Amino acid sequence: MTRTVKLAVIPGDGIGPEVVAEAEKVLDAATAGSDVVFDKTRFSLGAGRYLETGDTLTDDDLAAIKSHDAIVLGAVGGVPGDPRLKDANIERGLLLKLRFELDHYVNLRPSKLYPGQPGPLADPGDIDFVVVREGTEGPYVGNGGSIRRGTPHEVANETSVNTAYGVERVVRFAFELAERRSKRLTLVHKTNVLVNAGSLWQRTVQEVAIGHPDVAVDYLHVDAATIFLVTNPGRFDVIVTDNLFGDILTDLAGAVTGGIGLAASGNINPSGEHPSMFEPVHGSAPDIAGTGTADPTAAIGSIALLLDHLGLRDEADRVSRAIEDDISERGAEPRTTAQVGDAIAARLQA
Ligand code: NAI
Ligand code: MG
Repeated sequence: MTRTVKLAVIPGDGIGPEVVAEAEKVLDAATAGSDVVFDKTRFSLGAGRYLETGDTLTDDDLAAIKSHDAIVLGAVGGVPGDPRLKDANIERGLLLKLRFELDHYVNLRPSKLYPGQPGPLADPGDIDFVVVREGTEGPYVGNGGSIRRGTPHEVANETSVNTAYGVERVVRFAFELAERRSKRLTLVHKTNVLVNAGSLWQRTVQEVAIGHPDVAVDYLHVDAATIFLVTNPGRFDVIVTDNLFGDILTDLAGAVTGGIGLAASGNINPSGEHPSMFEPVHGSAPDIAGTGTADPTAAIGSIALLLDHLGLRDEADRVSRAIEDDISERGAEPRTTAQVGDAIAARLQA
């Protein structure tokens, strides 16, 4: 029986459409001849759409996207500082809105240092870990405000929201992931200072750990975690953390594993109630858009995460292996975006 997956594709701005084209190439190659068919709908969203129509994400857009099984996104956003985009609010009005509306409570960001991949660390050892970042709570919920703005008595508050429900569901996801990997889980927080939220996270991890006796549990304060991500990244397998700490740690994790062109991510709704969204971590890179030099590997890595999420584990593994093989054989000769996509797709046809 043929399985049809309704896939929403949001190429976005700048290099977004360039890397998404290569990701689609690889998706097609990975599923050619299988009984899975991707029925794709394209959505024009981002800075370009805003400049044309004044819309960021309408209710109709959202309803149409919700009717899909999964989403692939390139990158959205214009040239930073462009005055025409001053009120566009692409970050909150589009990206964060999608994550909140689609209840993407897991932001999954794997970090792997592939053999042959140059990175900034002299002696990195084996790096292969995943950050499970909470995606719908913490200080990013918009639960804040300010008064007496612009006066010497201005007050600005940004309240971090942590619910027992929200923390437990992401912690459970992280333990289940650790069971499938090397069975090591590190909670990262700042329990010594953020005592209320920290205590909830810590108690939740202790409680969920009872059901996972094989998983070794560790705790690090976020500041110490930044040290170990540089001095001993091999100690990590699954890191679970809140929205803000996860945002910061995953940029650092991307940097130690060879940079922004390789980092993939999934914004996941594990219940399947709404579509999950897969995207490279990087932005629209207006500085190199149109030059054909963007590295599509991160976008292609997001396809591996998409396939894994859909339960297509063999296809996901094949894409990951093709990426790994391509990276290990990359020479000094620069390749275009399309050449990288073609090379990875060709490994899947072989
Ligand atoms: P950026 O990630 O777009 O670019 C940072 C630097 O990395 C640039 O020098 C760029 O050329 C380089 N770079 C990024 N991706 C690359 C790739 N695949 N291959 C080779 N080089 C790559 O971040 P920036 O410059 O801060 O933001 C540009 C725009 O993207 C802004 O409008 C920003 O709001 C938006 N943005 C969107 C994101 C998303 O859609 N998820 C995430 C981050 C930024
Ligand atoms: Mg970030």
